Amino acid sequence: VEETYIMVKPDGVQRGLVGEIISRFEKKGFKLTGLKLFQCPRDLAEEHYKDLKSKSFFPKLIEYILSGPVVCMAWEGVGVVASARKLIGSTDPLQAEPGTIRGDLAVQTGRNVVHGSDSPENGKREIALWFKEGEVCQWTSAQAPWLRE
Ligand code: GTP
Ligand code: MG
Repeated sequence: VEETYIMVKPDGVQRGLVGEIISRFEKKGFKLTGLKLFQCPRDLAEEHYKDLKSKSFFPKLIEYILSGPVVCMAWEGVGVVASARKLIGSTDPLQAEPGTIRGDLAVQTGRNVVHGSDSPENGKREIALWFKEGEVCQWTSAQAPWLRE
């Protein structure tokens, strides 16, 4: 089944937006399978964003992600990767549509409050990177028959 890695970045934690962000995915109807507050080590942040290593903003991005604890989440559902990206909105919060997380809650790319995997492959890769064996739970949601025919 499709899964995505969602992370509340340190600004989202500091600004008290954790509950609000979790709520948006819960209300949509996706299933939470992993959740933790975590101060991440530098090597993990660099591995997570390794595709952006050549970008001029890479050092700032790593300092941002290391600047405080993050909330790591794994979410599961049909189409969850693309749908989560839509719920999150554009990378630049000023371009993000109202109604999206970034569109409603942020103003700058360098403080855009949340991460979401950009493909199902990266969803699996990132969940394996951020969660240890046993930290992700498989469970049956009582809502399942009320969400999908
Ligand atoms: P993520 O879900 O965090 O991966 O964001 P994204 O997929 O919308 O954007 P991308 O993967 O291209 O960039 C990853 C993150 O790097 C962004 O979310 C920003 O936090 C940061 N970033 C991207 N572009 C810039 C930039 O031009 N300046 C700064 N300061 N940060 C940037
Ligand atoms: Mg990205």
